[in-house]
Amino acid sequence: MKKPTLATTIVAIVFLLLHSSLALKEAQTCVANRNCDSGLHCETCVANGNLRPRCTRIQPTNPTSKVKGLPFNHYSWLTTHNSFAMLGQKSATGALILSPTNQQDTITDQLNNGVRGLMLDLYDFQSDIWLCHSFGGKCYNYTAFVSTILLMTSGLPLQPAINVLKEIQVFLEANPSEIVTIIIEDYVTSPKGLTKVFDAAGLKKYWFPVSRMPKNGGEWPTVDDMVNKNQRLIVFTSKSAKEASEGIAYEWRYLVENQYGDGGMKAESPSMNTTSRSLVLVNFFRDLPDVTKSCKDNSAPLLNMINTCYEASGKRWPNFIAVDFYKRSDGGGAPQVVDVANGNLVCGCGNIATCKPNMTFGVCELPEADVAPPRAAVGVAPTPPPPHTNSACNNCKPIALLWLFAMTLLVSFLFSL
Ligand SMILES: *[C@@H]1O[C@H](CO)[C@@H](O)[C@H](O)[C@H]1NC(C)=O
Ligand SMILES: *[C@@H]1O[C@H](CO)[C@@H](O)[C@H](O)[C@H]1NC(C)=O
Ligand SMILES: *[C@@H]1O[C@H](CO)[C@@H](O)[C@H](O)[C@H]1NC(C)=O
Repeated sequence: MKKPTLATTIVAIVFLLLHSSLALKEAQTCVANRNCDSGLHCETCVANGNLRPRCTRIQPTNPTSKVKGLPFNHYSWLTTHNSFAMLGQKSATGALILSPTNQQDTITDQLNNGVRGLMLDLYDFQSDIWLCHSFGGKCYNYTAFVSTILLMTSGLPLQPAINVLKEIQVFLEANPSEIVTIIIEDYVTSPKGLTKVFDAAGLKKYWFPVSRMPKNGGEWPTVDDMVNKNQRLIVFTSKSAKEASEGIAYEWRYLVENQYGDGGMKAESPSMNTTSRSLVLVNFFRDLPDVTKSCKDNSAPLLNMINTCYEASGKRWPNFIAVDFYKRSDGGGAPQVVDVANGNLVCGCGNIATCKPNMTFGVCELPEADVAPPRAAVGVAPTPPPPHTNSACNNCKPIALLWLFAMTLLVSFLFSL
């Protein structure tokens, strides 16, 4: 039998690492997504100077799994901006070089990861309703042309809206206690265009009626009530007339949000401190999506932003936290920021992980150190803390060494070729 060469040994080691499921915790060094525990994936954050691939969170804690039955406006939901992964605003080439999309995965994957707010841009196009990104309120063939390139490069083309709406229908059907909110940037002018496409997608049966939305900053119905009545889909449009004509709630009658980037339709929102609107949405994404910088944006700066918006909105924590590339961070990311908002909303504590049914609001359990990660540490603090270790890094050293060893071998292998 032939003696194994150094090269085959190295290949075997790298292969093993790439294919092993190590169930690593947050912040531990990894090689591939499958090395990480569920709810985590493996990535670097070069924009934050973080070159070591580590397990980072991609799922928030479902707040209703901790404390059920509160009014809908007492929870916070991870929200994706341009959830359908659309093209950047400027030249097709430039956008393609950076990244053509705002998100990295499908609506179905987003929903399965705990995303519960979806921002969709809807247009009339080719006698149908399309998800599109365009200029002056019209979807052009130019963008459709670009979408063909996108289809080839990313597998996520612009597409008729019904495809995505059907994904939401399938999710709601399969998850009878989940509530989803769709926020439409609405360019549809065809008569009853939205009504028709929501009907066709089978989503009308989950519709939360406008008549049940609080008009003057009051409490929403409880999530239990919404689930029992199967009114689990909230839809907001940016067109005020559609509330009367189609029963689709005009977003800014119920919700305030901050401005993002420079301009855009968010100016229609009443100021953040308008308490006659019960829901608060925090937008935190760039005018042009930037996959590279998003991991940094979605870490400490996002946590700072929700604290800033808490003050600006009359001491209210956001119900929706909207980001690009929601999976990208240098640690806990947007999912962890949502957990922080939920902790504050649900039980008055720093993280939903510490909320218990029937606990007195604001009376948080000790040790406090385990529950409210310091601001600066938002990227790395595990939530919830691993039950049997004092620190998340207790068992990461061997893995880090293993990883270093493998990489060294791989590099020397490549050079020896
Ligand atoms: C856009 O494309 C469709 C189908 O490819 C075509 O029927 C239509 O004429 C085109 N419209 C314009 C303005 O080029
Ligand atoms: C609400 O916010 C607006 C705009 O930021 C500000 O001008 C106004 O003074 C605030 N009102 C209150 C009552 O804080
Ligand atoms: C919370 O309180 C309700 C009503 O008093 C009670 O039915 C329920 O069992 C309590 N839940 C827990 C976990 O203690």
